[in-house]
Amino acid sequence: MNRTVPEPRASLYERAGGAQAIEKIVDRHIDLVLHSEACRTLRVLYTKDMSRYRTRMIEYVSGFLGGPVVYAEKHGPAQLHAYHRNMVITPELRDLWFGCLTQALTLEVPDKGVRRELASVFWSMADSLTNA
Ligand code: HEM
Repeated sequence: MNRTVPEPRASLYERAGGAQAIEKIVDRHIDLVLHSEACRTLRVLYTKDMSRYRTRMIEYVSGFLGGPVVYAEKHGPAQLHAYHRNMVITPELRDLWFGCLTQALTLEVPDKGVRRELASVFWSMADSLTNA
């Protein structure tokens, strides 16, 4: 019998467009957090060097979406829940953060289906980091 073995599905990282796409999404997200009128209450939380944040976000999101596990290799396990417990993340802040993320996806990811999948995994993470 001639059975065809299904191709393994490409990771969300690959389907989103790989390293270049992740950089664009993170850059756009940061730009919106820092400059959008709505995000004044969110951006006061970002007290450290944004270039360090940018690098770490790109490193983390790469592995988070099934691509190279850069963050853990460079810095050890991410422990994002412990990290974000140092700040008070209300549902309102979560929604502002996620609003910037979905705008970034709309601007940087042309494929609607991939965009929806990305929004879904980021939402789960953002919601799980909400602690107030
Ligand atoms: C729920 C809304 C969120 C808020 C309000 C928030 C806020 C922040 C803030 C203020 C920082 C630190 C910046 C600083 O120290 O100046 C940070 C760091 C970080 N966040 Fe979030 N975040 C949120 C969701 C997320 C999500 C969904 C992810 C991942 C998908 C994420 C990944 C990271 C990473 C990787 C860092 C850097 C950690 C490090 O320094 O090693 N955050 N976040």
